[in-house]
Amino acid sequence: MTTHPIRFYYRGAIHEVHDAPATRTVLEHLREDLHCTGTKEGCAEGDCGACTIVVGELGQQGGLSLKAVNACIQFLPTLDSRAVFTIEDLRAANGLLHPVQQALVECHASQCGFCTPGFAMSMWALYENHPDHAETPSREQITTALSGNLCRCTGYRPIIDAARTMFDATREPRAKLDRAPIIDALQRIQRTDTFEYTGPDTRGPGFGTTTFRAPVTLDALAALRAAHPKASVVAGNTDVGLWVTKQLRTLDDLLYIGNVPELKTIERDASMLTIGAAVSLEDAYAALVADYPDLAELAKRFASLPIRNAGTLGGNVANGSPIGDSMPALIALDAQVVLRRADVSRTMPLEAFYLGYQKTALEPGEFLAAVRIPRTRSDLRFRTYKVSKRYDQDISAVCSAFAIEIANGKIESARIAFGGMAATPKRAPHAEAMLVGSPWDEPSARRAMAALADDYAPLTDMRASSGYRTQVAANLLWRFHLETRDEAPLSRDELDPFAFSDECLSAKES
Ligand code: FES
Ligand code: FES
Repeated sequence: MTTHPIRFYYRGAIHEVHDAPATRTVLEHLREDLHCTGTKEGCAEGDCGACTIVVGELGQQGGLSLKAVNACIQFLPTLDSRAVFTIEDLRAANGLLHPVQQALVECHASQCGFCTPGFAMSMWALYENHPDHAETPSREQITTALSGNLCRCTGYRPIIDAARTMFDATREPRAKLDRAPIIDALQRIQRTDTFEYTGPDTRGPGFGTTTFRAPVTLDALAALRAAHPKASVVAGNTDVGLWVTKQLRTLDDLLYIGNVPELKTIERDASMLTIGAAVSLEDAYAALVADYPDLAELAKRFASLPIRNAGTLGGNVANGSPIGDSMPALIALDAQVVLRRADVSRTMPLEAFYLGYQKTALEPGEFLAAVRIPRTRSDLRFRTYKVSKRYDQDISAVCSAFAIEIANGKIESARIAFGGMAATPKRAPHAEAMLVGSPWDEPSARRAMAALADDYAPLTDMRASSGYRTQVAANLLWRFHLETRDEAPLSRDELDPFAFSDECLSAKES
């Protein structure tokens, strides 16, 4: 049944899989097939971090890139040509505890221990990726690295202490991974042509089959998409993974875009930033923040680092979720999407891409190839705000973005977009109309706030009531005014409920 075996580096050797379902998760394979049960399962939806592993792949410069991801939602074939590191790998070469483990012990950073392997792997990724001889990571870098890990009994302070302590300069020798043999092994299993794996579907042998195809060129992807219009396009698997683990769906064939180099590029010219559809959210937001520093907080609060390492900006956009966090900002910035079918590409404004609830303008056989964002203009006043119950790793109740340009004392253009307020991410034409041609003063802002009621009729759901969303949307527009008005603008920190400094928290902790 298998066309090609799935091959990946695991615990010092190349591991092959021949007969697992194509939608078997990496976590299921580790625990149930290989009986390596150090990696835990909590939520099976990418939310808790109990299943955190580290995936390595060859970088474009030939080095080894290591990223923490959630094993519970990754399909096994996505590991092909890559390396996997789990808690079972965490031993110093001299047989002693690895500095990550030693620090967790010394700082009393574990109680029931269920979350600990996941924390340890997030910490290990931080440890491995932190340059030698650099200063110990800041508290913010540590909390970002741990943003995908939940602990219900120890409390985070000792865990954060451990993440600092593992870098202790007196802890010699540093137990970093010897990357050379892994790079050699990965070079031997790279694919030069489409990887195609067929496995039994999740109901087991005797039912249907699911085929996973992973082309290595854009042209091959376009041809496969045209030939298999019903296949689910997957990249980071942070959404499609849940169709299997939570909705228990049996999927048609899968088309994986994560091995297409042309879709993993970020390009800039004088007017546009172009982000390929397979660029991870972490890399895409780094590029966006370089042009639009105001996006830094949204970038940090988008899910968690393991999700941002796996998920893609293209996936967030193509998915069309009404509560996806990227779209309000991208729509406010007048982004475009590049769509391709066979040999033909077309470009359209992102706001025209969404036709209805989870319905996009993609035609059968077409796929999203890139997102294009205009480069920043010096006179643009731009802000984004996310409102959710938790700071990290939470779904927005309301997500907003505002962009205005002012010339000769009048608002020349206004683009306002919200997520969580309608069936799709959507602009606010009535509020925008109240602003264009007016001065950016309090009466204009108040008129636009009132007009939002004509733009949106939000739903009540488990995240927020309709009334709350309506009120918050208007309040966010007011906050935008306070931060960007000409006279006495307030700083983001003055208005940010989450604005706290490392020193402040460190002082509280000590
Ligand atoms: Fe919770 Fe994977 S089991 S993130
Ligand atoms: Fe029990 Fe973290 S030690 S959940």
